[in-house]
Amino acid sequence: MILCSHFLLHTTSHSKMISLVNSFKYVLPCFIVFLCDHNMVEVMSQYWPKGGSTRFYDFKVQMLKVNKLCNTRNIVTINQMYPGPAVYAQEGDRLIIKLTNETPYNASIHWHGVRQIRSCWSDGPSYITQCPVQPGRTFTYKFTLVKQKGTLFWHAHFSWLRATVYGALIIYPKKGVPYPFKHPYEEHTIILGEYWNKDLVQLERIVVASGGPAPVAEAYTINGHPGPNYNCSANDVYTIDVVPGQTYMLRLIGTLLHMECFFSIANHKLTIVEADGEYTKPLTTDHVMLGPGQTVNVLVTTNQKIGRYSMAMGPYMSGQNVTIQHITSIAYFQYVGASPHSVALPASLLPRFDDNLVVKTVMDGLKILQIRNIPKEIDTNLFFTIGFNVNKCVSKTPKLNCQGSNGGVMATSMNNNSFIKPTISLLQAYYYHINGHFTEDFPGYPLKFYDFVNGAPNSAPNNTGSKNGTRTKVIEYGSRVQLILQDTGTVTSENHPIHFHGYSFYVIGYGSGNYNPKTATFNLVDPPYMNTIGVPVGGWAAIRFVADNPGVWFMHCHLEVHMTWGLGVVLIVKNGQGPMETLPHPPADMPLC
Ligand code: C2O
Repeated sequence: MILCSHFLLHTTSHSKMISLVNSFKYVLPCFIVFLCDHNMVEVMSQYWPKGGSTRFYDFKVQMLKVNKLCNTRNIVTINQMYPGPAVYAQEGDRLIIKLTNETPYNASIHWHGVRQIRSCWSDGPSYITQCPVQPGRTFTYKFTLVKQKGTLFWHAHFSWLRATVYGALIIYPKKGVPYPFKHPYEEHTIILGEYWNKDLVQLERIVVASGGPAPVAEAYTINGHPGPNYNCSANDVYTIDVVPGQTYMLRLIGTLLHMECFFSIANHKLTIVEADGEYTKPLTTDHVMLGPGQTVNVLVTTNQKIGRYSMAMGPYMSGQNVTIQHITSIAYFQYVGASPHSVALPASLLPRFDDNLVVKTVMDGLKILQIRNIPKEIDTNLFFTIGFNVNKCVSKTPKLNCQGSNGGVMATSMNNNSFIKPTISLLQAYYYHINGHFTEDFPGYPLKFYDFVNGAPNSAPNNTGSKNGTRTKVIEYGSRVQLILQDTGTVTSENHPIHFHGYSFYVIGYGSGNYNPKTATFNLVDPPYMNTIGVPVGGWAAIRFVADNPGVWFMHCHLEVHMTWGLGVVLIVKNGQGPMETLPHPPADMPLC
């Protein structure tokens, strides 16, 4: 025990070191430092296969004063790092992360993409699986990375704190297991984000109270740096130094708040080898698009002449009449020996902000590398529409509170239900049978079928309203589920990155227009296995999974303001039989609301 707490003290500084150096060759020695005896893992882990190490991290939610974009302000961070500390582990390891909240805000952390097998209590979304950790309190997340590896990330899941509270979660293959491609010379993590000169908790309240859209970010950021295109930002640029003739792996992470983004490197091709923590067949492309919640590993070969090349990040917006930030964020991909004054080549390679074809082309090429057992027979068929609504104004001060289309109030929904977060943890309410906090009547199908994309109601706010409620859908343990996600054209259609907690799913099909079972074609051979699917604008996606992880799982649009407006649902997966199919008791330190 003493041994391990000693290591614990070192964790923060080591992660800091790692994230600064950010390169695989320096990471390896640190593994040894993190190793701890697994005797001390508490009782719950008796169900886990032996063999993994236990890694301890200390996460302190702390304010940090930053100077950015001609502005000084205090941002919420973990351990006063922005981006936050990277968490490193190996497949099969157990992670124990103590969160201590030293800020005036509530907080909770979600381990995005971690499947949390029988550890739903540690999933992290506020008011879904836990009450937020209040100022001055602590909570310890404990979970095992069962059969998982690859690039994932962690982020705050309270209000809009994710804007600055995020970091990489990198799971290496088990010892001795190589990557299914030539080992890269070096690895780097590239986190795509958005930055505001505002208090994000306040901003959420202001936007909700206004009934209107969210203001655009001051800047896009690459590893927290906006780059030279913004005011007071000439030197606030992230740089990767590279040597010629080598192959680098970039772990791209989309932790953006309200936007989706393209990413390219001038004059260099990107070869996608992993998406959402799952190996893919290599796919070479000029650009990738990342929505919030998506991660992609790409290989880049330094085969160009010595120079400094731009890595560029710019907007992807498929919706109509949406105001967006058009200034691109630039980082440098700099060959050793490039003259310090050599002009960065412009990243003219970025597609236009509304280029849906680029998004489709990459998606078309994404295939899982190792073929596995894709559910062929289905016993639960679900169909959820996703999209916008405009509700009628009921405020006595419409100028202040009804700034949505045509004097209405902006909303989003699934099957025309805007999800309302409960005021206690839904998982606790479910587990302890506390009545009155949620209902189990979320419809498995839309109540009415119509031409969702082109025949959608459009005279906001007269016929475009949604219902409100904390509605859940209950699923039997072991169900083989097929879910059609259908974008609607109400107000505007748009690509929505739909994320599912606690599961990855096979994306067996997608297309434009309305889903039609007679004409839709499915890939049951090598579909990508993802935790976040960008449902095509004005189109649909079909996903499949086996409901083998009991708990209360949030499924929502990862565009933060859409989630705030209600684009989500909670799926409750019941217990099966025996301890391996049952959610254990909650940990003793669950926060109270
Ligand atoms: Cu990464 Cu509920 O989100």
